[in-house]
Amino acid sequence: MTPVLTVEKLSVEFDVATDGNWPWIPKRKLTAVRDVSFEVGSQETLGLVGESGSGKTTLIRAIAGTVPLSSGRILWEGEDLTHFDRRSRRQVRKDMAMIFQDPLAALNPRMTAGQIIAEPIRTHMPELSKAQIVTKVGEIMEKVGLLPNLANRYPHEFSGGQCQRIGIARALILNPKLVICDEPVAALDVSVRAQVVNLLKELQRELGMAMIFIAHDLSVIKHISTQIMVIYLGKVMELAPAKELLSHPIHPYTRALIASVPIPDPIEERARPRVILSGDLPSPLEIPKGCVFESRCPEARKECASIQPKPELYRTGHQVACPFQITETGIS
Ligand SMILES: Nc1ncnc2c1ncn2[C@@H]1O[C@H](COP(=O)(O)OP(=O)(O)O)[C@@H](O)[C@H]1O
Ligand code: SF4
Ligand SMILES: [Mg+2]
Repeated sequence: MTPVLTVEKLSVEFDVATDGNWPWIPKRKLTAVRDVSFEVGSQETLGLVGESGSGKTTLIRAIAGTVPLSSGRILWEGEDLTHFDRRSRRQVRKDMAMIFQDPLAALNPRMTAGQIIAEPIRTHMPELSKAQIVTKVGEIMEKVGLLPNLANRYPHEFSGGQCQRIGIARALILNPKLVICDEPVAALDVSVRAQVVNLLKELQRELGMAMIFIAHDLSVIKHISTQIMVIYLGKVMELAPAKELLSHPIHPYTRALIASVPIPDPIEERARPRVILSGDLPSPLEIPKGCVFESRCPEARKECASIQPKPELYRTGHQVACPFQITETGIS
């Protein structure tokens, strides 16, 4: 079956001023995303994980068309998006919905919950009557666990978790084919995070959309993803089916991320080997010449400073951007 979204070798660069006070000083290129490729189909969820500043938001902004690509292609149901006419682009905007990190900030404070949820219908389905819109809003509010009689309240009257449910209702009201969630639970209390993740999972089972779910740590996405893509400094380090990546991580960065997810059992937690990541992400203005992960890699060796590993097939559906780990772990 053709994937809903295919991304091929996508790169995004920004021209940044190195000194705001001296505008005549030439701008420098900041590479936020480099050569990223993946695909996601209906009912599938691509979990996208990487530290803050690794290019996750830029990647999805490029997919949503809010930042230009420097190179690469985006295919929507197998067709190159750049070849779409205005009508088809409008259809893609209807079929691609976004859920943002800060639920309260993402909602217009001057609109009621009902108006916020109904806004995409007013834009894309102007033929519906007021009564039909009210019915649709009530139905989706129930689906996301909000009482329809709350439709006349304003965002500040809801808790963070409820605001995110409003954001989810708004995203899903047009029954989109792809839902992109940019760290949707990062701003929520730990106690409500699992509820929101489970809600999205249930809604996907019912409505069948494809999802991209971004988080900066693996504990959030491990229960919802069918595939996981790990990125570092804008590059793919590892991409694999979720179960395989979690049980059989190959790249040293993925291993470090997995080691940082706490295990509830204290005995098991104390017994497991530690992989500690020291230092910070290098600046994307000073991309290392060799492997981008070299300055923090516990497995780094001399050659790493002069090679630029690309994701290579380790086994079906599992790609790893580290030639040493591929050979040392053995291709099966
Ligand atoms: N509009 C922009 N102009 C210049 N640099 C940007 C812009 N947007 C993002 N960046 C830079 O791109 C890099 C990746 O950012 P981002 O995609 O927001 O990462 P993440 O979402 O993983 O935290 C960062 O270094 C950030 O400063
Ligand atoms: S290429 Fe070298 S530095 Fe990069 S991940 Fe592999 S071992 Fe580490
Ligand atoms: Mg981000």
